[in-house]
Amino acid sequence: MVLKLITSKQDIRAIVTEADREGKVVGLVPTMGFFHEGHLELMRSARSECDLVVVSIFVNPTQFAPGEDLDSYPRDLERDTRMASTVGVDYIFHPSVEEMYQQEATTTVEVSGMSEIMCGASRPTHFRGVATIVSKLFNIVAPHKAYFGQKDAQQAAIVRRMASDLDFPVEIVLVPTVREADGLAMSSRNIYLTDEERVAATVLPRSLALVEEMVRSGERNADVVRKAVEAFIAEEPLVDLEYAVICDNIFLRPCETLEGQVLVALAARVGRARLIDNVLLEIE
Ligand code: PAJ
Repeated sequence: MVLKLITSKQDIRAIVTEADREGKVVGLVPTMGFFHEGHLELMRSARSECDLVVVSIFVNPTQFAPGEDLDSYPRDLERDTRMASTVGVDYIFHPSVEEMYQQEATTTVEVSGMSEIMCGASRPTHFRGVATIVSKLFNIVAPHKAYFGQKDAQQAAIVRRMASDLDFPVEIVLVPTVREADGLAMSSRNIYLTDEERVAATVLPRSLALVEEMVRSGERNADVVRKAVEAFIAEEPLVDLEYAVICDNIFLRPCETLEGQVLVALAARVGRARLIDNVLLEIE
């Protein structure tokens, strides 16, 4: 099937309703576009598990605060369409802001407790915007499965909680982080980096490798590991660490001891870019 571009809520709803009636499994990959291998990996997972694959491209204004990069966020629909068609996507849903948000809309979705911490500390309205747009996409596309990247670990945990708390009949599928050859997590925002900053940014994945090394050597004290990460990143003057957090992967509560499933998550400013990365550890 040739990939089709859909811009109206009504049209995409009619398509997925028909597919559902035929007993097809509908998969949704929500994105803001400007695709890289990370996005394509989500689409490949969806393609391998679903009969109908819808990718949404919508640079969602409500998850950007004033002064953030909403206007400069990279966009290239033609390139995105070409890339999506190489991995067998059926539909791109690309609504306008007016199509997505009615002018008088005042309803939002807030996942409290998990949205104010970590990235939420510096971006207090961000996850409300994410939870609201993802709820709307779930209602519009009514997917059986929805695909998210582990790269945005906090977003993934919040979406999972929201889907569970609000009884969305959707399975949330997480896809591992896709990285550049030197370890930097792929991100649409990496294009903001100068050559020098691009090299400096690899301190983030290298610090996560240090964590894995410490855990392999038997370290189980979260405070010791966090301080080692902070000291390691502080050595790189072009990288300004915003937080390093060691927490569980369900409620994102900080942990003192490294045991079971543990998330180590980082956010840092590198030049114009704000970058995040994380590693999910399974510790016996
Ligand atoms: P966006 O940044 O475009 O990311 C879309 C999806 O791709 C997210 O689930 C994200 O976690 C995943 N992704 C990004 N980089 C990745 C990488 N290197 N490896 C694996 N997956 C990666 O996240 C958003 O858009 C928005 O907040 C959205 C959920 C669409 C709501 O507006």
